[in-house]
Amino acid sequence: MRDNLMNAFQYKAGQLHCEGVSLTQLAEEFGTPLYVYSRNHILGQWRALDEAFAGVDHLVCYAVKANSNLSVLRALAEAGAGFDIVSGGELERVIRVGGDPAGCVFAGVGKTAGEIEGALRCGIGCFNVESVPELFRISAVAEVMGRRAPVALRVNPGVDPDTHHYIATGKHTSKFGIALKDALAVYRAAAGMPWIEIRGVQMHIGSQITKVAPYVLAIRKMLPLIEQVRALAPETLEFFDIGGGLGITYHNETPPTVREFAAAVKPLLRNLGLRIVLEPGRFIVGNGGVLVTQVQYVKRTPLKRFVIVDAAMNDLIRPSLYESYHEVVPVRKARRATMKADVVGPVCESGDFLARDRRVAAVEEGELLAVMSAGAYGMAMSSNYNTRGRAAEVLVDGRKAVLVRCRESFAEMVRAEIG
Ligand code: LLP
Repeated sequence: MRDNLMNAFQYKAGQLHCEGVSLTQLAEEFGTPLYVYSRNHILGQWRALDEAFAGVDHLVCYAVKANSNLSVLRALAEAGAGFDIVSGGELERVIRVGGDPAGCVFAGVGKTAGEIEGALRCGIGCFNVESVPELFRISAVAEVMGRRAPVALRVNPGVDPDTHHYIATGKHTSKFGIALKDALAVYRAAAGMPWIEIRGVQMHIGSQITKVAPYVLAIRKMLPLIEQVRALAPETLEFFDIGGGLGITYHNETPPTVREFAAAVKPLLRNLGLRIVLEPGRFIVGNGGVLVTQVQYVKRTPLKRFVIVDAAMNDLIRPSLYESYHEVVPVRKARRATMKADVVGPVCESGDFLARDRRVAAVEEGELLAVMSAGAYGMAMSSNYNTRGRAAEVLVDGRKAVLVRCRESFAEMVRAEIG
């Protein structure tokens, strides 16, 4: 079996469970829509990747943006994870759960002076710099603070990762990173800045990548640059960060296992004498979570059938935004007919759907459905559109379930508003 199937979510006695806990029971206790995460799946994925890189100095930095719930972060911090962050807010989350800022890499094309200052003050591991003006800004803030700033350049190797165009980031047309052909000149400039310390070289070629070839190609393209940077900063160069992007199975994708991935890239990295940093998000949490929702109505129109549920695009925007596929299954398993339907939410947008023209079990009003593979970029991208309070979140560990985020109330939604 592949590493990242949803092993944590199985039917037992006709009921879908997360580890040892029935989703029906969780829905009764905490209501719907409800995100349910498997602590053991998440930690298992982190460990599998960590172990696959044994023998090479490395650090797995979990990409906080994929699922930033404090309890998820705390579990990973306790396991020894580093973190990939993209904002001052994500850094505060990491600090809140006892994570070490020195184990954090700070990415993002728009770091503000305030974010840079805050990160420097708490001893950030490294800034992954995405442009020349950003490098100047970091240098200026560092000088004012009298602290040298650790940096890597995010270098864009110009590799097509063969994924959805919205989440491909390593191509020449994307806003991210510095083009490979320009990188050496920027490193030279950095080497001449007294408040900048060159610590690493970074790349990130995209997300939901289901093949090893784009990684191998991108790493190969980066290796000559790494040697040139080593010559510029022999004392301080510490790491090569190969980014995140490892894909998972949502439907019928067959991504490499961690062992296959490590076997393909380790030979290229082993003799560099640098620490290898990885920034996985989806791989760690994606198949460790589901969104449990209740059927409100089954509606027929002259042409279609709609299963209207209480979760919507504000809870899980991936289908609307990227037309991504998420399996939708009934929580109560029973032999029954199937029907073709759209599974949609109550939000006032035609684009508010969780599944479209899908053959699903013939479900009835009041039944529970589970939207699978929702642990990554689910809750993290949720909103209050249509003044819908955000879902609650539960973290399961064996037979124990803990509420790790309360359902959002009306008062909480309008707390910051004046009127
Ligand atoms: N490192 C950097 C610099 C990134 O930009 C990202 C994701 C990651 C690591 C983690 O990538 P992962 O391992 O999770 O693929 N919302 C989209 C995905 C956006 C990814 C943004 N960057 C989705 O739901 O598919």
